[in-house]
Amino acid sequence: MIKYRKILLVLIVIVASCKQNNKSAFDDTDRQAWWKEAVVYQIYPRSFQDSDGDGVGDIRGIISRLDYIKSLGVDMVWLNPIYVSPQKDNGYDISDYENIDPVFGTMKDFEEMVKGFHERGIKVMMDMVLNHCSDEHRWFKEARKSRNSPYYNYFHWWPAEKGEPPYRWSIFDDKGYGWEYNKATNSYYLHYFADFQPDLNWENPKVREELYKIMRYWLQKGVDGFRMDALAFISKDTTWPPLPAEYKGNWTLYYASGPKLHEYIQELNREVLSRYDVVTVAEAVGDIERVKKFVDRDRKELNMAYHFEAVDFGYQPGKYKTPDPKGWDLVKWKKIFARWDSAMVEKGWNTVYLGNHDQPRMLTRWGNDSVPYRNSAAKMLSTFILTMRGTPYYYYGDEIGMSNIKFNRIEDYKDVELLTNYAQLKSKGGDLREFLEAMKITSRDNGRTPMQWNSSVHAGFTKGTPWLPVNSNYKFVNVAAQEQDSSSVLNYFRRLIKYRKNNKILIYGSFRLVDEQNPDVFAYVRETKEKKILVALNFKNKNSYYVHDLPAEKLKLVMGNNINPSSPGTLKPYEAVIYELQ
Ligand code: GLC
Repeated sequence: MIKYRKILLVLIVIVASCKQNNKSAFDDTDRQAWWKEAVVYQIYPRSFQDSDGDGVGDIRGIISRLDYIKSLGVDMVWLNPIYVSPQKDNGYDISDYENIDPVFGTMKDFEEMVKGFHERGIKVMMDMVLNHCSDEHRWFKEARKSRNSPYYNYFHWWPAEKGEPPYRWSIFDDKGYGWEYNKATNSYYLHYFADFQPDLNWENPKVREELYKIMRYWLQKGVDGFRMDALAFISKDTTWPPLPAEYKGNWTLYYASGPKLHEYIQELNREVLSRYDVVTVAEAVGDIERVKKFVDRDRKELNMAYHFEAVDFGYQPGKYKTPDPKGWDLVKWKKIFARWDSAMVEKGWNTVYLGNHDQPRMLTRWGNDSVPYRNSAAKMLSTFILTMRGTPYYYYGDEIGMSNIKFNRIEDYKDVELLTNYAQLKSKGGDLREFLEAMKITSRDNGRTPMQWNSSVHAGFTKGTPWLPVNSNYKFVNVAAQEQDSSSVLNYFRRLIKYRKNNKILIYGSFRLVDEQNPDVFAYVRETKEKKILVALNFKNKNSYYVHDLPAEKLKLVMGNNINPSSPGTLKPYEAVIYELQ
């Protein structure tokens, strides 16, 4: 009897381990999730569609474009903040988390918009800013009145009788200094961002409960997800240790992500996220090991994260967002993507993006916006975003190939980050001309110009004066023109999404770089047990060549951005090809 039992046990173990071995990520149903298969479309509400002529995009404007958004084939939209705000950082300075800023509309408009998205099968992700609020928020207005205010401990303070606070950096400050003196309390408050964005004190359980309440409020209104702004910064070491000599400005390494960061996120998960059907993505600074922690499913924190290593690539060290004049190295860039991809295979999940409201237009930064190449390059970059492993986050306007506006003068810019960095450089006597040249390529305002709907005045964005000028290329780069043209960037994007939807291999299949050392071509194989797909993308404005290890005679071209596609191994400037192995 015992013998039989043993045999049975051995058999069970063998069967179980065979199952294990046969398991590709693709078959692993418990790892499949709708949000891994989704394409996220980011709408910058200020710049999408104005409905009332005040020059600022609004919710009713978005409502009027619901069918357009549906026609793209996307599954979820991420909206930048639309809560009440003085708008000094375009909504990332919230003064009332539970109401809609009048510039964007009313709560009724909001509810109608969410309903409209849901009726079209599109989910809605809100932006949630939990690291800081506006200095015009009721909490801060009360806190700054007196040390005895019940709100004083909602923020981080350094009492002036102890002398100067230990140095902390601020990203958006004229002096780059993270403490601001407040006379009434004779103390300094901490702000990692601008002085009008005081950091919330997560050490205080009341603050955490307030923030959880806010999230529950929006979830009850039916929102489906949150993009968690600046989340890596919520915990601070409140012993405020002085910075070590080896600090050298690397704040993300030394103090930005404090000791209780993950304890707090786990609490947030327990108290809010786990109780709803909600998806989350963190803006997570730091290296792979740090970012992995946010999304490791065993840790019960968040679903996805996005990192900065690829988009911040190619800057000159020590200079604010200034691209290296020698250009950027595709071989190194490919390796960044490959590293992040493999790090997330087991337990996390990646996102793939090249543009958002904090970035310039991807076409100018990573492609080529000159007339002969812009269409091919825009399609090539879209092919990249939609065929990599990870949830694609796709920025409004990229689907028609919008490009940087490239302002000439500092007066043209609105962005607080740019203006404060300019002020810092000016006070140090730095090279302002070099700065302005760099900003034409990298500044955030380039990515925030109004959506180009048609060739009428202000590109059909507003009947008034747009808050940021429309790119003058709207006469030929616009939705209406591209709707008429089956080979447009827009229609190519729609076809790509359909292709992705019909080929789950692009979601769950493994990812492998091919011809890694090729300085011009980004090529990779996506693979499951049943199928292989080769994607090859020419990032240069010349004919390029690549090698791969699949039998060329069995490759069938299924998508490409050139009407006369090249044969496998060869690519025209900015050509993109997708081959399936037959
Ligand atoms: C995030 C946002 C950015 C904002 C900053 C401060 O990085 O994406 O737009 O300026 O946080 O909230």
